[in-house]
Amino acid sequence: MIAIGGYFELDKGLSRNWHDGALGFNSGRNALRYYLREHQVKCLYVPYYTCDSLLNAIRKEGVEIRQYHIDEQFYPLGDMVSGGQTAIVYVNYWGLFQRNVEKLGSEQRHLIIDNSQAFFADAEAMPAFYSPRKFFGVADGGYLVNVNVKAMPTPDNGVFGYTALLMRSVDGPEAGHQAYREAEAQIANLPIAGMSAITESLLSRTDFDMARLLRERNFLFLDRHLSGLNQLSFDLTALTGPMAYPFLPAAKGLRNFLISQRVFVAQYWPELLNNEDLSDWERTLAGGLLPLPIDQRYDLNAMARIVECVMTFCNQYSEQETQEAIA
Ligand SMILES: Cc1ncc(COP(=O)(O)O)c(C=O)c1O
Repeated sequence: MIAIGGYFELDKGLSRNWHDGALGFNSGRNALRYYLREHQVKCLYVPYYTCDSLLNAIRKEGVEIRQYHIDEQFYPLGDMVSGGQTAIVYVNYWGLFQRNVEKLGSEQRHLIIDNSQAFFADAEAMPAFYSPRKFFGVADGGYLVNVNVKAMPTPDNGVFGYTALLMRSVDGPEAGHQAYREAEAQIANLPIAGMSAITESLLSRTDFDMARLLRERNFLFLDRHLSGLNQLSFDLTALTGPMAYPFLPAAKGLRNFLISQRVFVAQYWPELLNNEDLSDWERTLAGGLLPLPIDQRYDLNAMARIVECVMTFCNQYSEQETQEAIA
């Protein structure tokens, strides 16, 4: 019997889902696992430059993993043949490589797009999965698109991940950090389930258009000021509300300096540095790339503070290098 009246739950929200017809899961990796299961994928090509969490999820499905390298444009290297029960996962890194997605899609017969870092990117009618918590204030969730499934699993009813978000809202990022790490560890062990009602409710109230716009504005601001120091360059005509501004400076130690200035930057993916099969390029990315925050929480004053911190550090670094060269 449906309950009527009493105290309120979270509002359902009014806005539409960004991805029409998307199937909701409790994480991005579980959306992928469901796809692998439903389509009986036996062999999957996966980039070396990706996180352990993805590989572990694929292993849980008993799928054979073959790994491939990427070039400096983040495009796959080597001869891969897909089709039938052999598929390729391509990561649309930070949502900046839509052109690679299109090109690969025209060459390969069974491609799965990992849009975990590319919430706003269109999957070009190919199967793809998404991870909304990398873009919005939700603790979990995943989407699978362009896929028909016979039945959906029941929704997740866990709320553990929200502790970190509530703590950060009340007391700031340092206060909720431990809870965040614990929640991330728990996500690794979640059985496949549908998206929770809380996550669905929060997402349905998101202003997606505004979030995308602000991300692109912030991205362009950082690129205008930092592209001269960045060893990466981007196709600015193909922006799709990116996740972050990937910054690869010559200077070493910037991450710690930024943290000392309370600019928090993730590392993708430290575990890779132990992998001897990585190419020099992938190792450089794993060790030195800084995904600078550009999300919809921040205005241009915040972006200017990031630029100032980066400039201060890089100038000091190059002065120190010059002096060491003279000595
Ligand atoms: C490239 C990539 N793919 C997939 C995933 C898995 O997404 P989720 O954490 O929502 O399972 C992540 C991050 O965890 C990721 O960085």
